[in-house]
Amino acid sequence: MTRTPHATSGEPNPLRTLTLDRLRRRTSMKWRTHPEDVLPLWVAEMDVPLAEPIVRTVTGAMELGDTGYPAGTAYAEALAAFARKRWDWDGLAVERTAIVPDVMLGVVEMLKLVTGYGDPVVVNPPVYPPFYDFVRHLDREVAEAPLGADARIDLDVLEDTFRRVTEGRRRAAYLLCSPHNPTGTVHTADELTAVAALAERYGVRVVADEIHAPLVLGDSRFVPYLSVPGGERGLSLMSASKAWNLAGLKAALAVAGADAADDLTRMPEEVGHGPSHVGILAHTAALRDGTAWLDALLDGLDSNRRLLADLLAERLPAVRHRPGDATYLAWLDCRALGLGDDPAAPFLEHGRVALTSGLPFGTGGAGHARLNLAASPEVLEEAVRRMAAAVERAGGDRG
Ligand SMILES: Cc1ncc(COP(=O)(O)O)c(C=O)c1O
Repeated sequence: MTRTPHATSGEPNPLRTLTLDRLRRRTSMKWRTHPEDVLPLWVAEMDVPLAEPIVRTVTGAMELGDTGYPAGTAYAEALAAFARKRWDWDGLAVERTAIVPDVMLGVVEMLKLVTGYGDPVVVNPPVYPPFYDFVRHLDREVAEAPLGADARIDLDVLEDTFRRVTEGRRRAAYLLCSPHNPTGTVHTADELTAVAALAERYGVRVVADEIHAPLVLGDSRFVPYLSVPGGERGLSLMSASKAWNLAGLKAALAVAGADAADDLTRMPEEVGHGPSHVGILAHTAALRDGTAWLDALLDGLDSNRRLLADLLAERLPAVRHRPGDATYLAWLDCRALGLGDDPAAPFLEHGRVALTSGLPFGTGGAGHARLNLAASPEVLEEAVRRMAAAVERAGGDRG
């Protein structure tokens, strides 16, 4: 299904609503890390106003002084209903969920449940850099199983890695990014079923970070890992935070498959003290009443990803880029520009445009940069103009 801007949801494109002047008044990381002359298209925050149901809910809580501790299962119920409607999945059981402070802390807690000190955790680079940082901080060892050249999971490489890391009957986990940050790859049901079969064969436990699940574009369909045959032993992390821009309102949900329920019950009660009650209210409102806004956003992102492809083809044809089917992130192969291993550095220095460096994304990250396209079309145009100017100033070859 292709969503036509405005027509399907009746909502305006949230990416076209805010001026740069207004955005620059924000005090979050995206806007305060660099000086004012830098155009920021790096960290995963979106240039959107909040969906009205979220504003109403949070404002109502402020007016009521409803800022105590969280209670109840409304967040999980809203997610279960969303999953039924958007993904035709009715397997999300509220009793097999737990509220966690955010997705990455939830990942850490899930890894603690299924691995021990020094155990390996398999990831698919290039991948979201905190997958390395949080796993290492937990005293687990990262094992890389790089994506294939087509940006999809390479099942042979994954199997080799599972075999290697489980030698000597070691416990191991696989931290799956679904959809995948930074490539926007949406894993298919067949791929995920094959992953589950490999996990079963080698006794590897799967923890799926599905934070980008609502952000699937065009005709692609998100498949929950826990819904595929063999996925019952999996653990998933979901959240409204990426799709509705709620990173500052902390909350997320850990979801256990039918055969992983016992694992989740071992999660200590105090983990649930981390999320914010107001965050949970906001996330619940997003999932329950924010779908028209989400549809308008997805329309906007769909047209932005096409715009970006056109702009790059026109102004920086040497950049290789495969538009992703999910997320609002674009993974740019800049190796032919002659800007070295870290093209984000000269883009910033010579073009005053901030992208995310590809280097911390692990193997396959050198020579790449990640661009956040959750901005207005005008900002995207200006960003590519600045990138092209940077290439000229840096004396690179833009072929
Ligand atoms: C794959 C992935 N996981 C987790 C996060 C962070 O989520 P949280 O702030 O809930 O920890 C992000 C943020 O961009 C992400 O892309």
